[in-house]
Amino acid sequence: MYKKISVIEIESTTACNSFCPGCIRYQPIGTKPFFKEKFPDLEPGLYRNSDTRINQHISLENIRTIFESKVVNTDEVFVDLIGTAGDPIAHPKIFEILQLIKKLNSNASFNIHTNAGLRTPKLFAQIGDFFKSTNTRYMFKFSIDGLEDTNHIYRRGVSWKKIIENAKAFIDAGGEATWQFIEFPWNRHQIKEAEQLARSMGFVGFEHRRGWVTDEEAYEQVESTNFGIFNKEIKKVDINEPVPDSLYIKDDCFSKEGIFINPDGTVHPCCMFNAEFANPGESRRQLEVLYKNFKNNLNENTLDEIMSENFWLLLKNTLTDKPCDTCHRMCGVYEKDGKRWVNENIKAELVL
Ligand SMILES: C[S@@+](CC[C@H](N)C(=O)[O-])C[C@H]1O[C@@H](n2cnc3c(N)ncnc32)[C@H](O)[C@@H]1O
Ligand code: SF4
Ligand code: SF4
Repeated sequence: MYKKISVIEIESTTACNSFCPGCIRYQPIGTKPFFKEKFPDLEPGLYRNSDTRINQHISLENIRTIFESKVVNTDEVFVDLIGTAGDPIAHPKIFEILQLIKKLNSNASFNIHTNAGLRTPKLFAQIGDFFKSTNTRYMFKFSIDGLEDTNHIYRRGVSWKKIIENAKAFIDAGGEATWQFIEFPWNRHQIKEAEQLARSMGFVGFEHRRGWVTDEEAYEQVESTNFGIFNKEIKKVDINEPVPDSLYIKDDCFSKEGIFINPDGTVHPCCMFNAEFANPGESRRQLEVLYKNFKNNLNENTLDEIMSENFWLLLKNTLTDKPCDTCHRMCGVYEKDGKRWVNENIKAELVL
């Protein structure tokens, strides 16, 4: 099973400076009858999801526990600071985290995603310089979804000026930056121009990705976003759409020897499971059953102990036996028009 861990996704923090309407941190309330039925008394706007524990930061002790454990691959470990509900750069000690990981595992390679409109050019320069001077393999992705007149439509509250200052500082210090552009209806016409800007600024890569929300929903969410009420907490809508059984599961955990760490120190097989706990409904209920008796907190157990828990065997057996809705939805292989496909947002590049 998990003889070693080679991929560690770490949600360093659930703090963020942005208010992206599609993020799990929030519950957007639009004007459609669907919302009116679920929330008859609420005015349209962007509310906080009460199931997401925001502003938690992973401790340096947890990082130490992970990278000192025997089960982590010392020859090659890929550390993905992606997160589901936070921006890694918002962790007050993000630089110390990178330094500590590298000190404990000199072969660690990294991936970081950030909206880039936070902290200071000094910090971005420090990180760029750190990667270069330590000869580290990494991807550093700036999530910039448009140009000056459009990025803030989805990346609510993110300052364009700050992004540009931070990107310049990172690149000038020797950092290799990738621009990740999520396509929405309002920025679709700017993809080429953004790519040209990326090249002229010295970005080494430009990635174009489809947005999670359909056009109509996206428009509605964005239009309905009302800054005045984002501090009010409500539960996310329980959509509870039935998940059809897939043909089989092409897992993204065991096969790549990967785990996910939540800032509260809990260990999960993947970010999808972690995110499911922020969504009420049948999928979460199934996970709660699977997690019963699973001692998965790094504040109470070592990673070696957590990885020898019976949970992993139970989970592995479900994949062939009776996969849960989340595994079907996220890693299930389906057949459509004679072709095999998986959830395209997660594994767009899968070739079967
Ligand atoms: C939840 S974010 C967390 C990391 C960071 N705060 C960020 O936004 O880049 C994880 C990844 O999801 C992407 N993402 C955010 N909203 C998205 C959307 N509506 N559609 C597709 N990807 C999205 C982000 O750009 C990032 O690459
Ligand atoms: S920047 Fe990332 S973490 Fe922050 S609100 Fe947007 S998607 Fe969520
Ligand atoms: S959804 Fe299921 S199969 Fe896919 S990575 Fe997560 S635990 Fe593994």
